[in-house]
Amino acid sequence: MALPDFVVVILAAGKSTRLRSNLTKVLHRVGGHPLVEHVARACRPLGARALLVVVGHQSDEVAAAVAPLGARAVLQQPQRGTGHALVVARKAIGGRAKYALVVPGDAPLTRTETLRSLARAHQTGQAAATILSAQLADPTGYGRILRSQDGRVAAIVEQSALTEDQRGISEINSSIYCFTLAKLWPCLAQLRPANVHRELYLTDVIALLSQQGETVLAQVAADPQEVLGCNTRAELSEVDRTFRQRKRDALMEAGVSILLPETVLIDPEVEVGADTVLEPCVQLLGRTRIGRGCTVRTGSVLRDTLLGDAVIVEPHCVVVSSRLGNGAMIGPFARLRPQAELRAGARVGNFVEVKKTVLAEGAKAMHLSYLGDARIGAHTNIGAGTITCNYDGTRKHPTTIGKRVFIGSDTALVAPVRVGDGAYVAAGSTITDNVPPGALGIARGRQVNKPGWVAARRREAAAAHGARPASKRASRKKSRPKPRRSAGAARKRRKPSRRRR
Ligand code: UD1
Ligand code: CA
Repeated sequence: MALPDFVVVILAAGKSTRLRSNLTKVLHRVGGHPLVEHVARACRPLGARALLVVVGHQSDEVAAAVAPLGARAVLQQPQRGTGHALVVARKAIGGRAKYALVVPGDAPLTRTETLRSLARAHQTGQAAATILSAQLADPTGYGRILRSQDGRVAAIVEQSALTEDQRGISEINSSIYCFTLAKLWPCLAQLRPANVHRELYLTDVIALLSQQGETVLAQVAADPQEVLGCNTRAELSEVDRTFRQRKRDALMEAGVSILLPETVLIDPEVEVGADTVLEPCVQLLGRTRIGRGCTVRTGSVLRDTLLGDAVIVEPHCVVVSSRLGNGAMIGPFARLRPQAELRAGARVGNFVEVKKTVLAEGAKAMHLSYLGDARIGAHTNIGAGTITCNYDGTRKHPTTIGKRVFIGSDTALVAPVRVGDGAYVAAGSTITDNVPPGALGIARGRQVNKPGWVAARRREAAAAHGARPASKRASRKKSRPKPRRSAGAARKRRKPSRRRR
């Protein structure tokens, strides 16, 4: 159900010094997306009247990260605190919405349903403000919820302002709230920067409302993990771990086998069919889609790649923006660069690099090749060490190879060049001209054998060195007993022969 009376405001202008980063906090990535994008994704299905994002540090980049999700940016410059962020957003919020749902840009685990239920509670409770709170085992760093004796929310106290007694409070402020705008605006005007950071804190609005006798509610999150903010690198990696686990769990639920799942990294948009097996240390990134019954073996990294059914990716393959048809096989140690396409049953083996090349049904290149800007026909075999010389130093050129062709090992195909259907190319050829269909292309020096050449060479060498016999070992044996040599010289000569043994 939509929330037409609500405007969602994502607070994403702050910098955060604790990450010690040039990149503003909300652009740091967890689970494959920037923090702020996760937040906008969670908010979008709420169907609010508007989705606003308050930007400041690296405002263009932050705005761009959420624009595709329909978020409109409001610039807060300079950033004078979370309360000030709403002051700045007031004009964009306008007069037509009744409520604002405020969400921090650094809490990426929050689910849509949690936000929706908070909004509903706010409406039905007719509150001026409703806070999403949580009970944390370690509440350090968060603002705490102060409740009066009758349990009503009295204030939020920031970590830096906590008294000794208040340090024990484990109910924290998630920074996710609903406000009734007619009640919020007058309170914002009363905020003062009376704190260590000299900022206007949105949290101070709670005490003001409470003092005015307004209803302030706090709904405790069922899953405290959902509200965790990412203020340090350690928290970022912890939240990333949670996202990755959620994704793997969902895939396993859907029939995918994952071995040593904690070592497998899968981006959120990745799809994997049932009965596919993912071995340890696999990474499936971007918009990768994998069919049913595939095996992706250890150490392989696939990005933006489509796999049909029953595809086998042997260990340690790197595949980017490529397509593999049903029953195709690659690796181990294959590299598929953008626009590599292996149709059904095609195979690429170890140390083969493929770029912008189609291998039609059943075509094979099993060993040590580079295939770039090429079309390779069905059931063609590319011999070991074949290279398409696609680059002339200025431009790229195509290589076209027909069906059922046999390319001998160590062939260089100097593009542009065509090899017709059913042709053969002899091993070691450098093919610069087209090979017609059914022909044998051979382009290398003809072999010449010279009988007895080795012995003749030895005889020549011996003659040149002054009548020494061909075998060194034999010559040494003979020379040793010669009485003319000194004992020292004999020792010197024996040493290397001992080493040789
Ligand atoms: C805030 C709350 C704290 C709560 C915690 C939950 C305040 C004063 N404190 O603290 O009670 O427990 O969140 O995570 O609100 N931002 C702006 N403009 C600004 C300042 C901040 O847009 O001028 C944005 C930040 O980019 C961030 C969000 O507001 O996304 C929260 O700011 P942050 O500095 O992370 O607040 P915390 O110290 O975590
Ligand atoms: Ca925070």
